[in-house]
Amino acid sequence: MPRTRPPVITLDGPAGSGKTSTAQAVARRLGFRHLDSGALYRALTFALLKEGVPEQEWATLEAQQLTDLNVEVEVEGDVVNIYHDGVLLTSDLRSTEVTASVSAVAGLPAVRDWLLDVQRSVGAHGNLVADGRDMGTVVFPDADVKFFLVASLEERARRRLLQDHGREPAEAEVQEEARRIEQRDNTDSSRSHSPLRRPEHALEVDTTGLPFDDQVSLIMRQVQDLTPL
Ligand code: DC
Repeated sequence: MPRTRPPVITLDGPAGSGKTSTAQAVARRLGFRHLDSGALYRALTFALLKEGVPEQEWATLEAQQLTDLNVEVEVEGDVVNIYHDGVLLTSDLRSTEVTASVSAVAGLPAVRDWLLDVQRSVGAHGNLVADGRDMGTVVFPDADVKFFLVASLEERARRRLLQDHGREPAEAEVQEEARRIEQRDNTDSSRSHSPLRRPEHALEVDTTGLPFDDQVSLIMRQVQDLTPL
């Protein structure tokens, strides 16, 4: 069937599987917009912490209260910027506090529903590479090419630390991070609303031991084979 809009490509997978950096590089090569959906969950978490909303109240939050947190997404060409109270969010999204609380926020149905429209509006015109946990299953179920990225737990822990601290981590740090990631994987996979799972027809890519450039090239080849761009 002919496509009615430009392509949408999704990359889902567990924490540290390399989705976000790969999606960003693929989007850049294709001249597409990149949606890092994890950053949206992180932005709401950041705002809840910053506004001092007690954690025991998070489960009862309604759409209007989420809107009142003043998290805004602005698209400028291919760039998706996220603001809180008009301030651009960058490294704040990856703080230890945000990372520790984001799984709890991402498990809230009201949060997921609120973000659904935001994400779909970013991808409404296609030419999009979106990464997250439910891009190919819930947010863009009719995406043109879907990937599911996996990697060993230790490799994922190492990459996460390298990304967050900009240096090669010590073995003890890797083990500790691996335990944290495993816990988050369990929370993300066992929640009742939009759990992490492999989308039907997704191409599974194991990135363990795969250099970053090879990972990007492999995805690019598959995209070029599977969809006329
Ligand atoms: O990929 P990340 O670490 O930035 O994701 C942050 C959290 O948000 C993580 O706990 C999973 C959750 N998340 C989600 O539930 N659905 C998405 N589409 C993206 C992220």
